Amino acid sequence: MNTVYNTDCLTGMKSMPAECVDLVFTDPPYYQHRANDLLVRKNNGKPRNIVVNKFEFDDFESEEAYLDFMNEVIQELYRICKTGASGYMWCCDDYVSFLTRMLEAAGFKFRKVIHWHKTNPFPAISTRRMFANSMEMCIHFSKGVPNTWNFKSVNEMHNFIEAPSCKGKERTKHRTQKPLKVCIPYIEISSNEGDLVFDPFMGSGTTAIAALQLNRKFLGYEVNPEYCEMIKTRFNEFLEQNKDYKGEIPEVI
Ligand SMILES: C[S@@+](CC[C@H](N)C(=O)[O-])C[C@H]1O[C@@H](n2cnc3c(N)ncnc32)[C@H](O)[C@@H]1O
Repeated sequence: MNTVYNTDCLTGMKSMPAECVDLVFTDPPYYQHRANDLLVRKNNGKPRNIVVNKFEFDDFESEEAYLDFMNEVIQELYRICKTGASGYMWCCDDYVSFLTRMLEAAGFKFRKVIHWHKTNPFPAISTRRMFANSMEMCIHFSKGVPNTWNFKSVNEMHNFIEAPSCKGKERTKHRTQKPLKVCIPYIEISSNEGDLVFDPFMGSGTTAIAALQLNRKFLGYEVNPEYCEMIKTRFNEFLEQNKDYKGEIPEVI
């Protein structure tokens, strides 16, 4: 418990027992195959900045390879979820329907797509003739009827959330880090204290930090050792800031 393993999630999940997870909260690779590196120029024409939209962990051989991988992950998720568990899976607009259909084929029930409006997206550039990418989506699903549904006020139960992308002290060097603000409400609604929250794609460890802050347990995987170092740093900061923390000490192995 309270461990992130530096290993491939498929290998890891296959060693987990069936029906042990209360909540899946995850942000898998998006397969941003259409995104190209973008060179932003100053008025004087000199390059100012390179915005990379495609990340090394999106580097699948083909769309088919990406979808096969996600299908295998989803089937393992179904096996390890308890009946009544909920799940949240971030994705981009390209793949929201593919992933929803896969979740349903594995046996999960689709509940809703949650929309995150990023208030500080990378601005639209007139020459690209495209809107700014200011929305991300999160599929909410469940294994049967959700056991836990900690209803908040009616106005907090919309499938829409507005927040800037990660910045300030919370920000690590992980390029696709999710802000805690768009994770914590859903973990609160769909799990209780002491429950096990699982994330096969931990990245900089956002799901683990949210779980620690909410007194949930967590377990997860992250294949990249550099990101695992970021998770360790975040765990140390959490312990430093929460000297009275009495739960299991979080670790990365
Ligand atoms: C979109 S990022 C997650 C970011 C995370 N939500 C955060 O806030 O930092 C996806 C992560 O999945 C990891 N990943 C990709 N393939 C993996 C695999 N087979 N097993 C475990 N982790 C993997 C990547 O290295 C990347 O850090």
